[in-house]
Amino acid sequence: MPIRQRPTEGQLALARLLASGVPTEGKSVTTVPASVYTDPARFAAEKAKLFDRLPMVIAPSALLPENNMAVAHDGFGIPLLLTRDKQGVAHVFWNVCRHRGTRLVEGGEVAKCPRIVCPYHAWTYTADGALAALPRPDSFPGLDKADHHLKELPNIEAGGLIWFAREESDFADARMLAPDFDAFGLSGHHLFRRRVHDVASNWKLIMDAFLEGYHVQRLHAQTIARFFTDGISVADSIGIHQRSAVGRNEYLAEIDHAHWPELRAVITFAYQLFPATVMIMSPDYVNLMVLMPQDEGRTLVEDFMLIPQAPQTPDEIDHWEKSWHLLDEGVFGGEDYRAAALGQNGLASGSIEEITLGTLETGIRKFHDQVERALG
Ligand code: FES
Ligand SMILES: [Fe+2]
Repeated sequence: MPIRQRPTEGQLALARLLASGVPTEGKSVTTVPASVYTDPARFAAEKAKLFDRLPMVIAPSALLPENNMAVAHDGFGIPLLLTRDKQGVAHVFWNVCRHRGTRLVEGGEVAKCPRIVCPYHAWTYTADGALAALPRPDSFPGLDKADHHLKELPNIEAGGLIWFAREESDFADARMLAPDFDAFGLSGHHLFRRRVHDVASNWKLIMDAFLEGYHVQRLHAQTIARFFTDGISVADSIGIHQRSAVGRNEYLAEIDHAHWPELRAVITFAYQLFPATVMIMSPDYVNLMVLMPQDEGRTLVEDFMLIPQAPQTPDEIDHWEKSWHLLDEGVFGGEDYRAAALGQNGLASGSIEEITLGTLETGIRKFHDQVERALG
């Protein structure tokens, strides 16, 4: 039985603001230099100051639904190994053997693994990273196994997401989000599908697409536009992250705001996690998009579709499969990511010096200001 979830005070306040019709948009037109999307030096600075420094979401908790599971992860350009140990604790390790540095786990599929065995000389680790055994231990006189634990990166699991960082971090801004995601019961969700898209675009163009509602009636005319009214959205901040609420067609209907399913049916909440993760809370499922920037013009995006519980019947599988295709292939792959790639193509031509943002695109303004601040 799912526990009865309730919206947080912050979610309720945003919903009331949306229903009140008070606009939160900016008042003036602003611009962003085209070079922030195309300049390799700018990308190098973002890598050093953002991606190599700030906590990043790596996966939903649901990627590792059971204890003693592991999966290799290479999207950030470094060999990582994500595990859930026998106590249920999640870890992010370097996927590197402590003997002679061999990659431990190949591929990218989640596997049950009470033991992780190096393919070279079979040093064997448990899912908590401890070196459990090695062949011919007599040939390593004086070796203390406790000194050869897998190297772990700073990480936390909170609110149904696993975060890691390259540098020591208190994860304060990540933890601030947990009550919001707990309100959706995210940590109990089931991972229905995941897929990596290789998008020929700067990572910020993809974030931009999830920071404004201006395009919904145009770009998404054939897919989801019919569910939404034009330009009805409000946003606020949670630490360095943004939270937005978009009114679906019935958003002004008389509803009991404390009744969560009713509220979720008329308002779509979305979260833009700084720097590069997006979550969209549809009425009955969640889309998580983890952006993994590769260079100034290329970004891997892993889409995860999370549903409240594992499907029980072929009809249920069919139902979720339709939503997955509509969103992953249609709305995201076919529309938002495509628009980002078209944007990169145009901006890389060097023909325009800046992009122009209107008052329905204030979320993009806030996001770029945040990036500038982080770059110092
Ligand atoms: S490199 Fe892993 S066991 Fe030798
Ligand atoms: Fe979109």
